[in-house]
Amino acid sequence: MTSAFATPVGQPWFHYHEGQLYAEDLALSELAERHGTPLFVYSRAALRGAWERYARAIEGRDALICYGMKANSNLSVLREFAQAGAGFDIVSGGELARVIAAGGDPGKVVFSGVGKQAWEMRAALRAGVMCFNVESEAELQQLSEVAQAEGLTAPVSLRVNPDVDPGTHPYISTGLKENKFGIAIADAPAVYARARELPGLHLVGVDCHIGSQITELSPYLDALEKLLDLVRDLEATGLLIEHMDLGGGLGIRYQQEVPLEPKALLDAVYARLEARGMLELPGQPGRSRRIVLEPGRSLVGNAGVLLTRVEYLKPGEVKNFAIVDAAMNDLLRPTLYEAYHGILPVVPRAGETARYDVVGPICESGDWLGRDRELDLQAGDLLAVESAGAYAMVMASQYNTRPRAAEILVDGDRHYVVRERETVAQLMAGESLAP
Ligand code: LLP
Repeated sequence: MTSAFATPVGQPWFHYHEGQLYAEDLALSELAERHGTPLFVYSRAALRGAWERYARAIEGRDALICYGMKANSNLSVLREFAQAGAGFDIVSGGELARVIAAGGDPGKVVFSGVGKQAWEMRAALRAGVMCFNVESEAELQQLSEVAQAEGLTAPVSLRVNPDVDPGTHPYISTGLKENKFGIAIADAPAVYARARELPGLHLVGVDCHIGSQITELSPYLDALEKLLDLVRDLEATGLLIEHMDLGGGLGIRYQQEVPLEPKALLDAVYARLEARGMLELPGQPGRSRRIVLEPGRSLVGNAGVLLTRVEYLKPGEVKNFAIVDAAMNDLLRPTLYEAYHGILPVVPRAGETARYDVVGPICESGDWLGRDRELDLQAGDLLAVESAGAYAMVMASQYNTRPRAAEILVDGDRHYVVRERETVAQLMAGESLAP
């Protein structure tokens, strides 16, 4: 077979030009030459393009996009969204510190997660976050104590588990009964009632997050209907639910998926709210209930590639292996979720292809990036692993004492090193030889 490489998925910002793969106006081969591999390369135009889709969706609405920063928390990526007016969905004190370091507004931060520690609650209270998304009664109790000790009031939503199936991978589906996340929706009224009695808390909203890489509208609308029933019941008891947070989860294109448009989602959400007469806050004419979303992957996933160089070709009886210099420590998704990431030659050859498993140098059979890929390869060739902007660098480890990759942000024909490559010395810096 001759080399028939696909054009990059999802994004016009990575494209072939004069026989080479580019990020915006820069040849990826030049970046690899200059900064080495493995190398994460992000496109600023792609980040802006992804944000624009959300900006169009919230235009003219009291809606807030809180970037689910666990997907990619590089300071320059955060800064990009902060400057565009985004809020942030955080899950740790460390993420809060990053928001602040990047110039984000803590007043637009929602704090999610099942295991918030007291010090993290304190830091978030002092920073003045918009809302704590609380996931259990025990957590409510602790938050109440921490807030009282600080002499502050914690704005609270309960994260409810609406028990809907988002139709995605079990590891990234979170809204089913058997998950550890949230409070069962049937128990929610009782927990809200208890929360009302606790000092130091102010109930402001309701929250859910049903899963990730969702490409259908219906799971969102199923969850929304259940949440609206709950809001109606809560408001009948005199509570005011100022905002509804529907979480993140919008899918991206890894292969042939057709992503959900943020505007299509929000148009449908607002139509339901209006149809049920629940857009306006009760007793507050003209003031609309605020909708919050926490998208992560859909803002960054297609904005990045992982560049890697072929070290060795190892032909085999049943399989050919292309051993590359990136590994599961750089990109865990293939082995953890059996996730598919496209793999493109940076400078395609015109010869015969063979079928390769693209694998890393780590001492684990699970160390693979792609299986059964038709490629025309020689040692030394550069490959680009697609859709590596989300849940890639943030999930990287130093397994096998492999320093983590550098990160580059491309802007037109300019580029910035937004994270330096780690060194082996840094990896050992905190260690010592016991006497
Ligand atoms: N909000 C909450 C409460 C979340 O738990 C998540 C993701 C998000 C928002 C953002 O979801 P997104 O829009 O990115 O789907 N490591 C996995 C994905 C784990 C997602 C965890 N929670 C992966 O590589 O596919």
